Amino acid sequence: MMQQLPRLLPGLFVAWGSLLAFPMSSSMPPLPAPMEPQILRLLATMVFHDTTRAADSQGTALLGDVPTHTMDCGTCPIRFHQPWAHQGLSPKQWHDLEQAIHLYLGLITDTVVSVVQGTGVSFPFVIQILMGCEILPNGTSYSFYLSTRDRDDLVRFNLATGEWVAAPGDKMAQRVCRSFSQDQGTSSRLRFLLQYTCVTETQSFAYYGKETLKRQERPVAVVFARQSPITVELPLLLVCWVTGFYPRPIHVTWLRDGEEVTPGPGLNSSGLLPNADLTYQLRIVLAIDPGAGHSYACRVEHSSLGRQGLVVHWGPGGHWEVGLAVGIVISLLAAAAVAAVLWWMRHRSMRPLL
Ligand SMILES: *[C@@H]1O[C@H](CO)[C@@H](O)[C@H](O)[C@H]1NC(C)=O
Ligand SMILES: *[C@@H]1O[C@H](CO)[C@@H](O)[C@H](O)[C@H]1NC(C)=O
Repeated sequence: MMQQLPRLLPGLFVAWGSLLAFPMSSSMPPLPAPMEPQILRLLATMVFHDTTRAADSQGTALLGDVPTHTMDCGTCPIRFHQPWAHQGLSPKQWHDLEQAIHLYLGLITDTVVSVVQGTGVSFPFVIQILMGCEILPNGTSYSFYLSTRDRDDLVRFNLATGEWVAAPGDKMAQRVCRSFSQDQGTSSRLRFLLQYTCVTETQSFAYYGKETLKRQERPVAVVFARQSPITVELPLLLVCWVTGFYPRPIHVTWLRDGEEVTPGPGLNSSGLLPNADLTYQLRIVLAIDPGAGHSYACRVEHSSLGRQGLVVHWGPGGHWEVGLAVGIVISLLAAAAVAAVLWWMRHRSMRPLL
């Protein structure tokens, strides 16, 4: 480890040289503080197989929940995922940042491999690093750096004091921490990158990527019922399934006779779940007694819907939806049966040919 540091440090110093000199490209217009909080997160995942191989590393940058950049390996180029993701830095600065990241990942790999022996940690293991910065609507910003090994806390970097902090009782964390603490040059460059470069980059991305960040996708809401597997008194589960919306903030409620059903044991939410196209979905489930004669509706409020939102009814007149669901299932089963018979006939008729 101590032999490897001198090899890496001059490289790091050169690579970070131009990044440290850059506050903001001169061509950029002055940027107002964003109205929404903006967060830029860099996630690195490093898989350590044994002492002889370099770790398999992968990195992703996200502005809010929008993936902007990735790096497929510890020595791979930065890939840009948005047309605006290369703006804000000159090609030379991007190149230098790429170099700095490669060297930094190499430094972490060497440090981890050199300290692992005698710590009780055995290969393979995964180290994940989360770092970045957030700009609040009032213009204040804060930065963060933390790491985990197989999901347990490892070390974090206290940006306010410039100190490395090891997870208590973890021998490997203490050794990594000691090693990083001895390297004041790299620590102060990392601090500068997170506290200044990251913040100006976030402002720049939020400016150039504002169309992407302001994207509005309207939710689709479907209401249906299914049999409750548990409660006898409340034998029916009403499901309000809302999907395809962006951004994330949404308010979905069940209305009973026009009144909002307050949270309680009969009300369940799936929580926000991601779709593959950077939209989200959510299910709110309400257990009811259909014999009690209430009317039900699901109300959805989202920034894409304007003031009145969306209301989908399920009332005494809405029972057909169960019938419809049953109908769909029966049709599907019938179609599957026909397909199976056809396949069997075909298969049988072809046999003699084989
Ligand atoms: C900005 O907002 C944050 C969180 O709301 C608060 O902690 C901080 O003190 C504020 N800063 C200023 C300068 O108002
Ligand atoms: C709500 O969800 C929890 C956890 O999945 C489950 O145990 C519970 O039975 C659910 N309640 C209803 C009314 O569906």
